[in-house]
Amino acid sequence: MGMQDFNLLEVDRLWKVYHKTEKALDLSDPVAIEKAEAAGAVIAVRDVSFQVKRGEVFVIMGLSGSGKSTLIRCLTRLIEPSAGVIRVRGKEVTSMDAEELTVFRRGEAAMVFQHYGLLPHRNVLENVAFGLKLRGLARELRESRAQEALRQVGLAGWEKKYPHQLSGGMQQRVGIARALVQDTDLLLMDEPFSGLDPLIRREMQDELIKLQKEWQKTIIFVTHDLGEALRLGDRMAVMGAGVFVQVGRPQDIVMHPADEYVQRFVQDEQRIAQLLDKGRVSRVRSIEAHASTRVGKVAAGR
Ligand SMILES: Nc1ncnc2c1ncn2[C@@H]1O[C@H](COP(=O)(O)OP(=O)(O)OP(=O)(O)O)[C@@H](O)[C@H]1O
Ligand SMILES: [Mg+2]
Repeated sequence: MGMQDFNLLEVDRLWKVYHKTEKALDLSDPVAIEKAEAAGAVIAVRDVSFQVKRGEVFVIMGLSGSGKSTLIRCLTRLIEPSAGVIRVRGKEVTSMDAEELTVFRRGEAAMVFQHYGLLPHRNVLENVAFGLKLRGLARELRESRAQEALRQVGLAGWEKKYPHQLSGGMQQRVGIARALVQDTDLLLMDEPFSGLDPLIRREMQDELIKLQKEWQKTIIFVTHDLGEALRLGDRMAVMGAGVFVQVGRPQDIVMHPADEYVQRFVQDEQRIAQLLDKGRVSRVRSIEAHASTRVGKVAAGR
């Protein structure tokens, strides 16, 4: 097995039930699960298994409430799974004690949160450097690293500001810098670009692609945006009501959606692909080519 085939992350039959009966519920009993749901239990993640290879970008897409944030937070046990096994580099995250878990979160799996999660009474630089402080890095080193990460997300010069002085998009970028500075092999990103305007969003996507190529990070990336999934994802999972409805390469999912739920996500993209098939785009190109020839002739005739 070559390095590129190495599964950095393995998730085996993961469940998360939000309900007071969580601990007592027999998850192998469909009738018991149905009863719990009738009594108000939310099965946010339902028996999900998947593997992500080292260096792969794995995108999770799905409607609001489908369980994406719950799932990604379960991976570092910020939310405690109800059942299932999670392994990172073959190490079982689900059986780590509190101390091992702290070391794991600081050194091996950085997270960008959907709602920033910045420390309000610390400035931008301190927010980004905070994780390095916890790891015991000297002040100068952690500040220079934090500055470099802030430069990467386009926030050089904002070091001394406080979170409330920044726009939502800027706070989001601080959150991204805070994850980047940890320099972990595994990056967990929960809609990291959703608060950004389109131009900055595009720049951040490019930056992430570049970073991923250079450093071969393994990235779990949650998004609502199919275009983003297509640009960033090596593979993607479409999540609905706690399950992975379809997993595959983004372009394969666009061309062959497994059911109506997936179809709804991909129909716009399919239309574009159909236009390409019918050669309309090449017709547009030939019109453009024709126009430029004419301009050239006009210019030459002068
Ligand atoms: N702490 C909680 N207690 C009870 N139910 C919860 C809790 N957190 C989430 N849920 C429920 O679990 C389901 C999945 O929520 P989750 O936040 O994981 O979805 P999501 O796919 O991230 O949605 P969004 O796209 O809006 O961020 C939803 O039905 C939600 O209401
Ligand atoms: Mg979410």
